[in-house]
Amino acid sequence: MKKKIFAANWKMNKTIAEAESFAKEFVKLTPNPRHKVLIFAPFLSIQMLAKFFDKKKVFIGAQNLHQSEKGAFTGEISAEMLKEVGASAVIIGHSERRQFFAETNQTINEKIKTALANGFVVVFCVGETLEEREKGKTKIVLQRQITEGLEGIDRPQNVVVAYEPVWAIGTGKTATIKMIEETHTLIANETKKLFNKNVPVLYGGSVNEKNFEAIVQANGVDGALVGGASLSAEKFAQMVNKK
Ligand code: PGA
Repeated sequence: MKKKIFAANWKMNKTIAEAESFAKEFVKLTPNPRHKVLIFAPFLSIQMLAKFFDKKKVFIGAQNLHQSEKGAFTGEISAEMLKEVGASAVIIGHSERRQFFAETNQTINEKIKTALANGFVVVFCVGETLEEREKGKTKIVLQRQITEGLEGIDRPQNVVVAYEPVWAIGTGKTATIKMIEETHTLIANETKKLFNKNVPVLYGGSVNEKNFEAIVQANGVDGALVGGASLSAEKFAQMVNKK
C-alpha cells in the first residue's frame, strides 16, 4: 500500500490514565508506523502523549481551539496553550462541533486561520447529512463548506481535508467506494480551484480494521480519520502497520 495518513479522533473518550495505557500498547505494536499517524486526543492528555511519542512518528493534536489569541472566553483553549503542551495539529469543523456547538463555516474559517498562523496542521472536516444527500444537495453543501471554510487562506501546505458524511459517523454505515471516489473528486476540484494544487483528502465515517484497506486505496483517498476504531490500540495499529 502507498503511504497514507491515519488520524485517530478520540472525541470525548479516555482519561489521562487510559490514554497512557493506549500509548504504551500502541508503541509496542507499532514501533515504526509505516504510514503517517496523528492522534487527536482530549486536551488533558495532549501533554502526556506529546512527551511519550517520538514527534517524527506520531503527531499529537487537539480536537478544537478558539479563534482568538486570548481573552474572556470561559471554557475555551487557545492555540498558544496547545502549542505549549506539544500539540502540532488540530481538527476543525468536525460535524459534531457544527451540530452540537453551533460552529458555522464562518467560525470554522476563523479557527483555521488562527491554527495555520500558529503553525498547526489542520484537519478540516466537511460532509453532508443524509437529508442533504437524499435531496441531491451533496455537491452544493460541500462546495459551500469548502469555499467559506477556506476563504482567504493562501497557504494550503498545512491543510488536510477530511470528507466525513455525517450519516456515516459512528453509525457503522460507510459510504460506498463509488460515493467516496465521486465525492473526493469533487473536493479535489474545489480545492484545486482555490489553491491551484491538491491538498490531501482523508475519508472518515465508520472506518475500521476490516474496511480501511479498500477505503484508503480508493481513488483520491489519502488516508482515514478514524473515530470509534481508533480507541483500540490493537485495531488502530493494524491500520498504521499495513504493508
Ligand atoms: P467514527 O468517527 O469512525 O466513529 O465513525 C469518525 C469521526 O467522527 O471522525
